[in-house]
Amino acid sequence: MKRKLLAILGSPHKNRATGKMLDYAIKIAEQQGYVVDYINLYEKNIAYCKGCRACIKSQNCVVKDDIQEISRLLKECSIVILAAPVYWANVPAVVKNMFDRLLGVMIEETQTFPKPRFSNEQKYILFTACNTPAPFSMLFGQSTGAIRSMKAVFNTSGMKYGGSCAWTGMNKTIFPKHLQRKIKRIFGKIK
Ligand SMILES: Cc1cc2nc3c(=O)[nH]c(=O)nc-3n(C[C@H](O)[C@H](O)[C@H](O)COP(=O)(O)O)c2cc1C
Repeated sequence: MKRKLLAILGSPHKNRATGKMLDYAIKIAEQQGYVVDYINLYEKNIAYCKGCRACIKSQNCVVKDDIQEISRLLKECSIVILAAPVYWANVPAVVKNMFDRLLGVMIEETQTFPKPRFSNEQKYILFTACNTPAPFSMLFGQSTGAIRSMKAVFNTSGMKYGGSCAWTGMNKTIFPKHLQRKIKRIFGKIK
């Protein structure tokens, strides 16, 4: 059976920093034989989480909108890449809302810490971008802030971390070669 990769864009810009990194990774994944599903969160209809918590029992959100497609693709994929820019040292609201809507898809509640519903055979890769240049992007928790909040969700879901990349600084026209090499290395490792 073909391995599946789910690519999620969490930026309103398809062809800027996070979009370019995602497209580059998709090319590599296709060369490696992955079947790629692509989700642009800004083109999807995903209502705000109501906090009803029905998903904890049903293992799926009870509200029928585009979150159902994302939930199905997440369950089917062997790799998910989430590409989301830094907004206020965190992720954009659409990304946070997607996470909220996936609560019962990703975890089972227990008396202590949530139990993962995904397998560590499924890997996640994170891309982000911010205007703060390195090393300040890391020292002031900008790129690291977004990566940390995405990691917290995927780690709790039980998926295994496959690597991350951050495009920092104001210049977003030329796709830095060191980032291209880093993305290639990530795929080299998780093959
Ligand atoms: C609402 C908003 C909040 C932002 N907050 C930050 C921030 O906290 N730190 C930062 O370095 N850049 C911030 N930025 C800049 C973006 O992270 C940067 O432009 C990034 O390249 C956008 O990614 P994209 O080009 O893939 O859409 C912000 C941009 C917007 C629109």
